[in-house]
Amino acid sequence: MTKIGIILGSTRPGRNGEAVAKWVLEHASQRTDAEFELVDLKDHPLPHLDEPIPPSMGQYQGEHTKAWAKKVAEFDGYVFVTPEYNHSTSGVLKNALDYVYAEWNNKAAGIVSYGSAGGARAAEHLRLILAELQVATVRQQVVLPFATEFENFSVFKPGDYNLQALDVLLDQLVAWSTALKPLHAETASASV
Ligand SMILES: Cc1cc2nc3c(=O)[nH]c(=O)nc-3n(C[C@H](O)[C@H](O)[C@H](O)COP(=O)(O)O)c2cc1C
Repeated sequence: MTKIGIILGSTRPGRNGEAVAKWVLEHASQRTDAEFELVDLKDHPLPHLDEPIPPSMGQYQGEHTKAWAKKVAEFDGYVFVTPEYNHSTSGVLKNALDYVYAEWNNKAAGIVSYGSAGGARAAEHLRLILAELQVATVRQQVVLPFATEFENFSVFKPGDYNLQALDVLLDQLVAWSTALKPLHAETASASV
């Protein structure tokens, strides 16, 4: 079964991201073509990157790095739930992405973003970062503007029309994640 990790890219106290990620998980879990798991970066605390060798060399030294690499490797694809901080994704998500390399390669991802402009600028930045990690991002995005999808900028109340966009995103993501499986299995065995 294809496994998809839903990565919650905010660790801020009072974060809006938690409700968004749970909404994605709840809807995605109704599907039968893949398994979905919420990966909360709060449960995987990583210091600012402290690996002496660039992660693309695959010589991880820290126990926290090895544990994170193991978690990332479990999945065939990802949904990144990203806030928008200063027109980009969050620092904590960028750091988690930077930490490992081969474990991301040749996989697929979809992006769900939120912010005053739906987090669209963060999502575009994130696509560039993911391209460098050899993660193929699907076309469909889910953008959740504060003005329409959140009450008082803090209570997530998504319109049901977002579910159609989320379904298309998940259709595309499961298809690509499944199709890329042989390729990333090869990468994984080459990096052992
Ligand atoms: C450091 C910082 C920078 C922000 N910059 C932006 C921004 O550029 N655009 C935007 O729409 N919202 C911005 N915001 C508002 C966030 O999108 C909003 O606080 C959102 O709830 C953050 O996600 P989180 O609550 O899950 O951490 C910023 C918030 C913070 C803390």
